[in-house]
Formats: sequence, structure tokens, C-alpha cells
Amino acid sequence: MAKDKTHYVCSECGGTSPRWLGKCPSCGAWNTLIESVAEGGGTGKNRFSSLAGAQPVTALADIEARDVDRTPTGIDELDRVLGGGIVAGGVILIGGDPGIGKSTLLLQAVDALQRAGTPTLYVTGEESGAQVAMRSRRLGIEGSQVKVQAEIQLEKILATLDAERPAVAVIDSIQTMYSDQLSSAPGSVAQVRECAAQLTRAAKSGGAAIVLVGHVTKEGTLAGPRVLEHIVDTVLYFEGDTHSTYRLVRAIKNRFGAVNEIGVFAMTEKGLKGVSNPSAIFLSTHSEPVPGSCVLVTLEGTRPLLVEIQALVDSGGPSPRRLSVGLDRDRLAMLLAVLHRHAGVNCFDQDVFVNAVGGVRIGEPAADLAVLLAIQSSLRGKPLPKGFFAFGEVGLAGEIRPAPRGQERLREAAKLGFSVALVPKANAPKKPIDGLTIHAVERVEEAMSLVRGLD
Ligand code: TYD
Ligand code: MG
Repeated sequence: MAKDKTHYVCSECGGTSPRWLGKCPSCGAWNTLIESVAEGGGTGKNRFSSLAGAQPVTALADIEARDVDRTPTGIDELDRVLGGGIVAGGVILIGGDPGIGKSTLLLQAVDALQRAGTPTLYVTGEESGAQVAMRSRRLGIEGSQVKVQAEIQLEKILATLDAERPAVAVIDSIQTMYSDQLSSAPGSVAQVRECAAQLTRAAKSGGAAIVLVGHVTKEGTLAGPRVLEHIVDTVLYFEGDTHSTYRLVRAIKNRFGAVNEIGVFAMTEKGLKGVSNPSAIFLSTHSEPVPGSCVLVTLEGTRPLLVEIQALVDSGGPSPRRLSVGLDRDRLAMLLAVLHRHAGVNCFDQDVFVNAVGGVRIGEPAADLAVLLAIQSSLRGKPLPKGFFAFGEVGLAGEIRPAPRGQERLREAAKLGFSVALVPKANAPKKPIDGLTIHAVERVEEAMSLVRGLD
């Protein structure tokens, strides 16, 4: 259909061109023109105009606040991230590296929904129906009544949605879908955006909840990039190392709930299983303490997690490297500067590598103290004491700031058998905690020298 209905729009300035050009004729930027469907052909009628009937204007006070209806998927850890379940007409984007478990989790979810009487549709563009059946056998759900369609053409999928009227439809993956209206290849920004927009429209008008699966590129963005995050209601990302057992599902955006919860799963022989008590899963198992390792208590949603932070400091070349996995690299550079300036520990001729064990990503600044302690420990070649852990944010002036909900963090670590804590002064509990020796500090230099005294 209608290639003449497409044109090219500059992603920088919004300028248009009837043909693809390397350089935008309006602003001169390179490689910014993206194919899109021309709207309305001059009649003033937009393809989405059916959605835009004029709504009455009402005073906020007169609008009844209603809680949205949620359908629990029956997979507790997934419901936790979703804020209770799937919302009718909502669009969920679920991203993650290839092989991390997106298809597995969603097949388990639609099967559970279907068993509970919710009609579902699973559209697969990456695998054949037979492959999906193989997977279902592995998951032990081969008798499932989930409707499966192996299809990549958007218009056909929209027709299926219309005919089957599922309450929940999974599109696996958005990068394999293409619309007839565009000539660009599946997976291109134009196709991904157009398909997502049309499916969103179908969700809003037909009332089905739609789950879009998206692969993440090497740069860490969904191919067909951030545009999708604005279109959809909920964005979930899978985290974790594909080679290890555990996976985290984190909400980045949720129009229907909080975004601070994570779901924790273990990949087993029979699919993903929820881990309801995940606090100890990101600790590696050293029989004796090793240099360059410090346990951090981080808070993910409502649950504390213990994560081992590892550092390796080694003599570098003329321009030493700073690399971090699971932690922010700019923050690492800042912390190294604070360590030098305020505690006199310098790494400027050293390569510094830091890693959060298990592929977990740590965004909270309360990790700072543990990162610096791991670095000092590696530099000195001396391990931290057995049973040691730390948390606390480090400021540019060398001060150590408290972390939210410190008591909970301390209690969780004590429960898991940890015995020595280094924490910000403001987090020190008034009453002692059984089995825990707590050192409270206010300054980086104080923390570093105190730890050296524990050797
Ligand atoms: P998959 O869900 O296909 O990943 P994605 O859709 O995100 O690309 O996950 C595939 C991986 O999970 C694959 O390496 C095999 C593994 N796996 C299990 O370990 N157990 C299982 O029961 C299943 C179905 C997959
Ligand atoms: Mg898949």
C-alpha cells in the first residue's frame, strides 16, 4: 500500500522531505531523516483522529477518582513490578538482552492468565509456532489454551486482535514487525515506532492490554530507541547476567503504579521461578575474604539486597582506564577524586575496574562507600574483615551522607550472619543490634583509616 503516502521527517528539527537524504534540508543535520507515514493527505484527517473525539471539560474536583482495574498475571514477582497486575488498554514494553528470558516469562504469564480465564494471544515474530510449542513443553504447560500466531505483518496482527478480542496480547518482538505503510525494513526506527503507535492505538480503542517485547542494543537502548518509552504506559527492563541464574525485572516507568519495585527470578530447567526472598542472591561465595571485595546492602524497592562490589586496581599505562560494570562510570571517576583529595589514597597511575556481582545494576548513591572500600582493599592487597559490609553516600566535600532506611539494611545483613558494619553516623542505630558491631563515620578519611585499623 501507498509508498507515496510516506515522507521523511528529521528527528532533530522536524523538517520534512519527500525523499530520503543524508542531510536534512532544513537544519543540515546528518542521518536524521526517518521515514514516516504522511498524515491525512491534506484533508486534515489524521489516522488517529478516531481517538480524539472532543472530551468535555470538567473541574478536577468533579472527576471521580477511580482505581484502575488490574488483572494479576498470577506470577507474583511480575505482578509486584507491574504494581499489582496488567491494566486493560495498557501498553507494556519489556526490554532486555537477547536470551535473558523475555519470551519465557511472557509465555508463562499468558499461560497463567489463560488458565485463570483471561483470553490471551501470543504473537511470535521470532520463532515458529512449533518452537513456541517446544518451549511450552519445557515449561510444562503444553496443554495450554493460549492462542498463538506466528506473524510479523502489523495489519494482519491488528485484524487478529479485532477478530479474537484477547484481553492480553504479547507481541514478541516489536523489532520483527513491519507495517505495509512504510518501505523501511523491520527493526528500523521508523517501523518500530509506527508499529508501536498502531498497536497502542489498538489497545486504547479495543481495550486489550498489549505487551511489546523489545531487544536492547549493545549501547543499552531499545532499538528504535527511547521513542517507544514515551508511547507506552509501562516500561520494564530485564537485568542480570545471561550466564548466571538470577534475573531482575525493573520498572523504569509505570503510569499505573510505583516504579521502585523489582521482580526477582531464577532461570531454572522449567522456566523462570520467582524468588520471594532475594537478599542473599548477589553474594559470591568466597570461603575466606579476598582483597578488593566489599559487601553492600542496597535497597531495591521495598526489599534490601546484599550485593558484592568488586574492585581491581592494577598499574596502568600512560592513560589508565576506569571501567565499571553495573555502576555509573562518571560516579566512579568522582569517587576516585574524592578518595585522593580527602583520604590521600591515589589511583591516578592505576587502572581501576569495579563490578557489581551477578549483573545487577546499582543506581543508588548509597553504594559509594562500598565502592571506595573495595578500591582501597584492592590497592593495599588486604581483604576486609570476615562478615564485613558497608553502605553510605559520599559527597564531593568528603562527607558521608546517610542512606534511606538504614535500620532495615542493618537488620537484613545481621539476619544473614554479617557481623561488622561501616555506616554513616546518621544511620547508626540508638539500640545495639544483636550480633553486629557497628562503626559509624562522618568523613571519607575517617572511614578509610578506620578500615585500615581492622586488619
Ligand atoms: P528466552 O526467553 O528465549 O530469552 P529472550 O526471549 O529474552 O531472548 O530465554 C532463553 C534462555 O533461557 C535460553 O538460553 C534457554 C534458557 N531457558 C532455561 O534455562 N529454562 C527454560 O525453561 C527455558 C524455556 C529457557
Ligand atoms: Mg525471545
